[in-house]
This record gives sequence, structure tokens and C-alpha cells, in this order.
Amino acid sequence: MRSDKPSDSTKEEDPNKSAVEAITDPTKGIGAIKNVTMNTPLDQERIKRGEEIYNMKCQACHKLDDKRVVGPGWKDITTRRKPEWIMNMILNVDVMLEQDEEAQKMLELCLMRMPNQNLSIGDARDVLEFMRQNDGEK
Ligand code: HEC
Repeated sequence: MRSDKPSDSTKEEDPNKSAVEAITDPTKGIGAIKNVTMNTPLDQERIKRGEEIYNMKCQACHKLDDKRVVGPGWKDITTRRKPEWIMNMILNVDVMLEQDEEAQKMLELCLMRMPNQNLSIGDARDVLEFMRQNDGEK
């Protein structure tokens, strides 16, 4: 009968595992954005630019409440999704719709592919800041 190390094996995680998980974390989406630094308080300049981009390029399909129009409403998106996922969805939408499970679920619901809006990384970060404000962050 073996009596060595009865329960300790579940405590020690393989040290390599977390590194691998960070790379393949499906909730961060697929694309160039691996890590977003979040600042508090919010950056008001970014919010202003993000709102302008929203008005020009997003509001036809996205409302700021939780109602779906063409695409899902943005209310609470920053608690539903990781910031990296949101930015990859904005910047790399075609690949996301082909390979990311969460994006595919939305596509099934909305029955329309979001067109690539040709935003820069900075633009996408501005929109993210605007979303955080919309979700009540300060
Ligand atoms: C022509 C309509 C359309 C426009 C314009 C559009 N989107 Fe979308 N968006 C969609 C649809 C539809 C989805 C759901 C996924 C799908 O079916 O492609 C979506 C999904 C998203 C999601 C994920 C939403 C969630 O709840 O997880 C984000 C983030 C997003 N869009 C950001 C943007 C941004 C930022 C802009 C403007 C720069 C924009 N979209 C412009 C149609 C649009």
C-alpha cells in the first residue's frame, strides 16, 4: 500500500503550466494584443477620442445599453470580456470570427459578420477606455 504524499500533489501546480496558459488563454482572444495595462483613474483624453470613434464607426451597430441592434450592446462588456479579448476583437475581427469560440457564439446570435473597422492599436485602446467609462468605472 502506498502512503507517500496523499494530498499534496493537487497543491503544487506545474510551474510551466501557467506560462503556457498565459499564451493560449482563450479568453484573451487571438491577435497581437497579449497584455493591456489598465490605468486608474480613467484617461479622459482617451475617453474623448474613443467616444468620437464610437460615434463615427460603431454606433450604427452597437448601442451603449444592453440592447442588441446589429451587434451586441456594450453595457457591461468590460466585465464580460477581458480587455485583451475586446481589443483583439476590434483589431483582428476576421480571425476572431473564424477561430475564437466566444466570437463564434456571437456570430451565431447576430447572423452577421462585423466588418473590420481598420482601427489602429491606439484607437482600439481609446475605445476600450470609453467602454470602461460606459460601464461606470472612474
Ligand atoms: C456593421 C455593423 C458593425 C459595426 C459598424 C461595428 N460592429 Fe462590432 N460587432 C458587430 C457584430 C454583428 C458583432 C457580433 C459578432 C459578429 O456577428 O460578427 C460585433 C461584435 C463586437 C464586439 C464584441 C461584443 C461583445 O459583446 O463581446 C466588439 C468589442 C465590437 N464589436 C467592437 C466594435 C467597435 C469598436 C466598432 C467601431 C470601431 C464596431 N464594433 C463596429 C457589428 C458591427
